[in-house]
Amino acid sequence: MTATFPGLRLRRLRQSETLRAMVRETRLGVADLVCPLFVVPGKRVRREIASLPGNFHLSVDELVKECGRVAGLDIPAVILFGIPESKDEMGSGAYARDGIVQQAVRALKKQLPDLVVITDVCLCEYTSHGHCGVVVGGAVDNDRTLDLVSKTALSHAEAGADIVAPSDMMDGRVAAIRGMLDGNGFTMTPVLSYAAKYASAFYGPFRDAAGSTPQFGDRRSYQMDPPNVREALREVRADIDEGADIIMVKPALAYLDVIRRVREECDLPLAAYNVSGEYAMVKAAAREGLLDEKRAVIEVLTAIKRAGADLILTYHARDVAAWLREGSG
Ligand code: PBG
Repeated sequence: MTATFPGLRLRRLRQSETLRAMVRETRLGVADLVCPLFVVPGKRVRREIASLPGNFHLSVDELVKECGRVAGLDIPAVILFGIPESKDEMGSGAYARDGIVQQAVRALKKQLPDLVVITDVCLCEYTSHGHCGVVVGGAVDNDRTLDLVSKTALSHAEAGADIVAPSDMMDGRVAAIRGMLDGNGFTMTPVLSYAAKYASAFYGPFRDAAGSTPQFGDRRSYQMDPPNVREALREVRADIDEGADIIMVKPALAYLDVIRRVREECDLPLAAYNVSGEYAMVKAAAREGLLDEKRAVIEVLTAIKRAGADLILTYHARDVAAWLREGSG
């Protein structure tokens, strides 16, 4: 009988890095990463985002250069967020044929055809009130928003987007987008659905970066209530039934249990969004000398994979890709 101490010694397999690597259960790879990028109007604009150090507001020309670096690091995909010249009640910049994201996608697909370009489909960066949908009588109107998010998704597909990613959390948006894409010949454009997206405090730095803080109220009538996990599974099932190709849980770190539950209950590829506040926390603590940035980042992202994610959207993507390349991951 060796299954108990002193026969059992779990430390045997921890004696060297080579041994530890041989029995490692979860591996973080550069192919798992998606790099979020912010595109703004203008030329030669490369402005660091104060709330997201190491990330920039980029004009289309600079975005193409940055994506060249991203692709050079073997990161397979980027997700684009647009900051328009001007905002209005209906978020018309989101679905304008010549909108900022549409221009960016066209330029990227021309210059870097192999880089997978995902577009965030939402109205909040484009509406004057900062909500993710059409506001009627002080509330976000679900069904009227569906038309606009589907038009947005179609305009991204027409520009050449490889994957569209609705993040608005309206009911029925995946079906509406799928129908719109299919009806216009984009039957092969996948939908990555932000299926379980919570009303989280961890989006703070992003909202500064995108200027998308709601001007009144908050997003709790459409984003999920953080204490709920069964409801996340209902959201996921609904999006699968409506035709989603990839499912996302967001945020990641405070929702590892949600990632695990979704992983166990669904067969689709699963993405997790390591959001702006999670990034900012690590950066701030590292800057204060409170933790080792590289080790902390690798540990966090590996935990997100261990929980069950296949893909991770993260502002750390470029750093991680460089560390993995050095072999120090
Ligand atoms: C747009 C959107 C948000 C994020 C991604 N898409 C902001 C929000 O819902 O307020 C957050 C990303 C991050 O915090 O990194 N709806």
